[in-house]
Amino acid sequence: MADYETITVEQRPEANGAVTLITLNRPKALNALNSKVLEELIDAFAAYEADRGQLCAVLTGSGDKAFAAGADIKEMSEKAAADFYLEDFFSPWTSEIVKKTRKPWIAAVNGFALGGGCELAMMADFIIASENAKFGQPEIKLGVAPGMGGSQRLTRAIGKSKAMEMCLTGRMMDAEEAERSNLVARVVPHESLLDEALKTAAQIASMPPMAAIANKEMVNAAFETSLDQGLVIERRIFQILAASEDKKEGMAAFVEKREGKWKGR
Ligand code: CAA
Repeated sequence: MADYETITVEQRPEANGAVTLITLNRPKALNALNSKVLEELIDAFAAYEADRGQLCAVLTGSGDKAFAAGADIKEMSEKAAADFYLEDFFSPWTSEIVKKTRKPWIAAVNGFALGGGCELAMMADFIIASENAKFGQPEIKLGVAPGMGGSQRLTRAIGKSKAMEMCLTGRMMDAEEAERSNLVARVVPHESLLDEALKTAAQIASMPPMAAIANKEMVNAAFETSLDQGLVIERRIFQILAASEDKKEGMAAFVEKREGKWKGR
């Protein structure tokens, strides 16, 4: 496994070793996302995606206080507009991590998820939050605006009114409000966050792997297509899955009242 400076990656024992845990590891800087973190995250997610034995990943933050308190303001303060433009800053993270990761992954938000931290969490397939989690897009206070998808993903997740209020005031949303607003799937006690996220990841990793990818693809299509196009995508993927060995096994296992044994094909 690669040796990283700013993140750690672990193959967990859950689901017979099929769960990857990725931890942002700059606790002193509240896991702020600098270029190194993002470069390493891209690498770690690519390795997760490429490893057929890994079936679900969890991304969390180290320390007790933050998932990630945003893009690294100290690094960004040194950059000129031309640098951001010429490097197409933020683009590789959003496109690389989200588009190239077809397998499921969960964000386990253990504290502040602000700016780029909130945006990174929203790139996950879903968020499980500790009761201490706090979400926000406070970029306006820095004279800027979200740059890693926050204005789009937050608005799609919680609607215009709340997203607009959060972006315009920079106020934080606590875990209870985030669950009520559909930003997170579930809120759990702070101490059991990682256990709960890993348990959920193990549950997903024990599903037929092709069907997991397919389910993810279908749900995501709901955000990117019209209803008619989405329904066609759903039907086609369903029909492809119907030809899989795991479909035959899954249905036989149900009839024979036993657990399915998946081949991932
Ligand atoms: N970038 C760089 N360093 C950060 C950081 C960030 N986003 N957030 C926190 N830190 C650092 C602090 O500078 C501090 O470092 P030092 O000990 O060296 O001074 C350390 O982390 C601890 O932070 P605080 O002392 O500020 O901790 P606190 O408990 O008093 O406050 C906080 C916590 C409210 C989260 C506060 O740190 C904060 O407001 N952070 C910035 C949040 C923010 O504005 N995020 C958006 C960034 S812009 C962005 O993300 C753009 C985009 O869309 C991609």
